[in-house]
Amino acid sequence: MLGTGYLGATHAVCMASLGFEVLGLDVDPTKIERLAAGEVPFYEPGLEALLRKTLSSGRLRFTTSYEEVAEFGDVHFLCVGTPQKENEYAADLDYVYAAVMSLAPLLTRPCVFAGKSTVPVGTAERITMRIHEAAPAGEAVEVVWNPEFLREGFAVDDTLHPDRLVFGVTSERGEQAMLDAYAPVISGGTPVVVTDLATAQLVKVAANAFLATKISFINAMAEVCEATHADVTKLSEALSHDTRIGGRFLHAGLGFGGGCLPKDIRAFMARAGELGVDQALTFLTEVDAINLRRRARMVDLARELLDDSLSNRRIAILGAAFKPNSDDIRDSPALDVATRLHQAGAEVAVYDPAAMDNARVRYPDLNYAGSTLEAAQGAHLVLLLTEWLEFREVDPAVLAEAVTSRNIIDGRNALDPDRWRHAGWTYRALGRP
Ligand code: UGA
Repeated sequence: MLGTGYLGATHAVCMASLGFEVLGLDVDPTKIERLAAGEVPFYEPGLEALLRKTLSSGRLRFTTSYEEVAEFGDVHFLCVGTPQKENEYAADLDYVYAAVMSLAPLLTRPCVFAGKSTVPVGTAERITMRIHEAAPAGEAVEVVWNPEFLREGFAVDDTLHPDRLVFGVTSERGEQAMLDAYAPVISGGTPVVVTDLATAQLVKVAANAFLATKISFINAMAEVCEATHADVTKLSEALSHDTRIGGRFLHAGLGFGGGCLPKDIRAFMARAGELGVDQALTFLTEVDAINLRRRARMVDLARELLDDSLSNRRIAILGAAFKPNSDDIRDSPALDVATRLHQAGAEVAVYDPAAMDNARVRYPDLNYAGSTLEAAQGAHLVLLLTEWLEFREVDPAVLAEAVTSRNIIDGRNALDPDRWRHAGWTYRALGRP
C-alpha cells in the first residue's frame, strides 16, 4: 500500500486480515511508527483491533522504504490523498506523482500497479506512460484502476463487504490480477464491474457527485419548506418510499463536508472544463452553492433566535467533526458555522466526542469545552451541528439546568422536537416549521 492515510491504512489492515502478505508505506515516519506499534492515527471504529490482530499474525508490516516496497510487492495499491489545490477547484496530484515517480524506477520485475486514489479522469493513462518510461521492467508493470468507495466511520466493513468492486483494466492479465487480489471479497458475493481505465476513474467521481447532488436536492427542498412552513423530514420520508428515489442520503440539515464530497465535485468540474464539457457539470456549481447556503442559513437562524444580535452571546456548539463517528474536520460544516459565529462576535464553546484535538490545532481561536454540559454552561443558544449519538441522547431537562436560555437549533434534524418543546425549549431546525 503506497500511503497509509485513511484509505491505505484501512486497505492494508483489511487485505492482511483476508490472508495476504501486506507492506504499508508512508513518507511520514511518525505515522509508520504508530501503525507499526498497533496504533491507528485517526478515529475509525474497529480498525485498531484489527490492526493489532493482523500485526501479530505477521502478515502486516510497515516501512518508509520504496526500495523495500519495490522488492516486496506483486500488487502495488496507490492510496495517497488528492486534496483540493489552494485557491483552485482542481485536485492536487503532487502526492500521486511523487509516489509514482519514487516507485517506478525501482520496479525491476513484472507486477501490478493498482490506483485507488480519487483522480481526475485521464490520470491513470498518464501514470501508465510515466511508469512504462521510468520502470526498468517497462510494460511488464501492468497498470489498473480500482476506485475506492469506503465511508469514514464504516471503513472496515465497507472494505471487507463493499457494494461493488470496479476494475479498470487494459488487459486480461490486469483483470486476473484484480480478481485474484479480491478473491476472498468476491466469494462473499460482491458484484464486480470490469471496465476501461477512463470509466473506472469516472465511476468514483460520478458516485460522489451523485451523493452530493442527493444531499443538496433535499437541502434545496428544505429551503422551500422554510418558506412555506412545510416539514422537510416528512417530505423526505414520503419520497423515500418511492424505491426509484430511495431514502439514503436524503437527510436534510447542515449539508455535506469532509475530505471527499466537496473537493471531488470541484475537481470534477475543473476536469470537465479542461475536457470542454463544463456545461455537463454546471449543475454541480448549484449543488455546491446550496450546500454552502445551509451554513449561512444556520448563522442567520442563530441571529434570529438571539434577537438579531450575536455580539457577546454565548453559543454552545455540539459537534466539530464533519460527521459522527469520525475525528475528521476537513471542510467541517460545524466548524465553519462556529467560525462564522465567532467572527460575528459570539462567544462559542465547541465540544465533540472525537475531533477536539484536530479542531484545536486547526481552529485555535475558538473556545472549547470538555463535555456537552460544559459547553452548554451559561449558553444563550445550543447548536447541534454533528449528530453524534451522544448528542441525540441528551436529556433536554438536564441540559436546561446548564443553559441561560433554552434555545436550540437542530442542524441535523436529529432530535425529537416535541420532547424538547415539552421540556421548555424553543426548538428550531433547518427545513422544519
Ligand atoms: C464519501 C462517500 O460516501 C464514500 O462512498 C466515498 O468513498 C468517500 O466519500 C470518499 O470519496 O473517499 P465520507 O466522506 O466518509 O464518504 O462521508 P459521507 O458518509 O458520504 O458523508 C459526507 C457528508 O454528507 C457528511 O458531512 C454528512 O454529514 C453529509 N450527509 C450525508 C448529509 O448531510 N445528509 C445525508 O443524507 C448524508
